[in-house]
Amino acid sequence: MASLRQILRKIPPLFWSVGAYRLMQFKRALKREDAAYVAAGDSTFPPPMLRYRVHRALDLDSYVNVGQQVAGALLSTLSFCQVPMENAKVLDFASGPGRVAYWMKKWQSSFDITASDIDAEAIGWAHEHIPTVADFRVNDMAPPLAFADDTFDIIYSVSLFTHLDEVMQDQWLAELARVLKPGGVLITTVHGTAAQTSCTPDELERIHRKGIYFRRDHSGMLKLDGLPDFYQTTFHTAAYVREHWGEFLRVEKVIEGGLGGHHDIVVLRKTPHFTQTT
Ligand SMILES: C[S@@+](CC[C@H](N)C(=O)[O-])C[C@H]1O[C@@H](n2cnc3c(N)ncnc32)[C@H](O)[C@@H]1O
Repeated sequence: MASLRQILRKIPPLFWSVGAYRLMQFKRALKREDAAYVAAGDSTFPPPMLRYRVHRALDLDSYVNVGQQVAGALLSTLSFCQVPMENAKVLDFASGPGRVAYWMKKWQSSFDITASDIDAEAIGWAHEHIPTVADFRVNDMAPPLAFADDTFDIIYSVSLFTHLDEVMQDQWLAELARVLKPGGVLITTVHGTAAQTSCTPDELERIHRKGIYFRRDHSGMLKLDGLPDFYQTTFHTAAYVREHWGEFLRVEKVIEGGLGGHHDIVVLRKTPHFTQTT
């Protein structure tokens, strides 16, 4: 059965009309939120558009709540996996304006956090307004990062591999493995079974055929988040993650629905004698 999105795509005038209407509604809502942000005069958290880019919603409360929930889940996972946290050198990869890093630093103050993202505007905002949270850096769309081999004890990357195609994922897995210290841990998230409830039977068939499915949704001006077109929606099976990602790092755990019941949490470790095959 085709989804509404798939049906609309087959009728270009309708697809564009719905897209234009969505864009207009979004701009109106953004204007209202911008005015409220300016009136509140509080820049502890980023302005609405920067929040939307990482959160796909404009309201401040849910941005704060989700940031707390994610940081809580990451810290519990690290603790459950007995990862030493005191004074750890941490990379928040694809940090946006620090939705998660803000709480990680607040709740684990000895963390020495570097936060990196392609979004220069988000990183610029964070560098200016929350500089004590992390050393905020801009990275290129493709590796390498500007860090030496074996730099970080812990890397976390929330809601990035849920948006990249397989080629980009492999490039970044190899790069994150490079900058992780031997024994270090990478925690990331994927759209596993829990996130596939809205997929059509055709999409589910594609996910299970290969273990990974990259779905192109909106692009160009219809892409409300303003991120590059390579940033779409990706689904994984746990079996694919265990097998394919295991070529880069040892896959220690796939916690299905571990992040708010929606994303799976994947815990990977760079074992001292791990030989990368890709
Ligand atoms: C859904 S947001 C999540 C942001 C943050 N991890 C959080 O949970 O609040 C995805 C982020 O990935 C960033 N991104 C996309 N491609 C990237 C890349 N190649 N390197 C670094 N960041 C990237 C986007 O700019 C965006 O900030």
